[in-house]
Amino acid sequence: MGGGQVTALRQAQGPMLDGLVAIVTGGASGIGAAIAAALHDEGAKIAVLDRDISGADERFAAFTADVSDRASVDAAVAAVAERFGRIDIVINNAGVGAQGDIAANDDDEWARVLSINVTGIARVTSAALPWLRKSPSAAVCNTASIASTTGLPQRALYSASKGAVSALTRAMAADHLREGIRVNAVNPGTADTPWVGRLLDSADDPAAERAALNARQPHGRLVSPDEVAGAVLYLVSPASGSTTGTFIEVDGGMAQLRLRPE
Ligand SMILES: NC(=O)c1ccc[n+]([C@@H]2O[C@H](COP(=O)([O-])OP(=O)(O)OC[C@H]3O[C@@H](n4cnc5c(N)ncnc54)[C@H](O)[C@@H]3O)[C@@H](O)[C@H]2O)c1
Repeated sequence: MGGGQVTALRQAQGPMLDGLVAIVTGGASGIGAAIAAALHDEGAKIAVLDRDISGADERFAAFTADVSDRASVDAAVAAVAERFGRIDIVINNAGVGAQGDIAANDDDEWARVLSINVTGIARVTSAALPWLRKSPSAAVCNTASIASTTGLPQRALYSASKGAVSALTRAMAADHLREGIRVNAVNPGTADTPWVGRLLDSADDPAAERAALNARQPHGRLVSPDEVAGAVLYLVSPASGSTTGTFIEVDGGMAQLRLRPE
């Protein structure tokens, strides 16, 4: 479909997500903020759930919530439902990084990261489930990672968490298919967000580290948060009704391509 056809379709049908309500966890920064903006531009009402809402766009309703805390999540999801009267879309995007090999992190750190990156998805989605079941076009999209499918050095715990996000995405898609709830995920490559900015700032030579990260991706640059948001928009759109239990890689070709050195 060409751009003109998309524009014509939009004029005929209105914004893709008109009337729908979307929760975006981690929506106050980086990839989550870009997803929230993309969904908002297509007519969705946005509820950002974040442990730090200070950076949230003022166009969105923002609720303080820590996805690693069940009571906090339950209260925030209840507040979203109270405010908007419905929940149609859940974007499970909040996540934290972890560096090092298998010996680098103690049990408490393993438990903390898995609780945020993996169990957080179960907490938020299960709290929203009664509302998703009532939606005419329910969709969940999880932010996984290139680390779900590709062995990266010094990312043992983080990769374990994101591999679990992939497995969980498929299992959720199977469980909820017949309830009309689609579940998909995106696998971003290294994306230009405040998170990666912090990583670069802590490197001995930030410029060299950025150059190395750029070079690791076949297209030679970091992924933009807006590029990830475009894939998420596709996955949650009611027009994607036959797409569930699947993944979109937004990684400049990193997972699938093998180019010869320039
Ligand atoms: N940046 C990348 O290169 C990259 C690549 C692949 C996947 N990802 C994934 O994308 C997601 C977003 O990453 P980002 O780069 O935008 O990071 P970011 O640090 O810019 O934003 C993450 C947001 O999540 C929030 N958050 C963190 N822990 C939370 C918790 N316990 N409860 C509620 N909110 C919490 C933070 O406050 C922040 O607003 C993460 O799941 C990350 O694993 C990032």
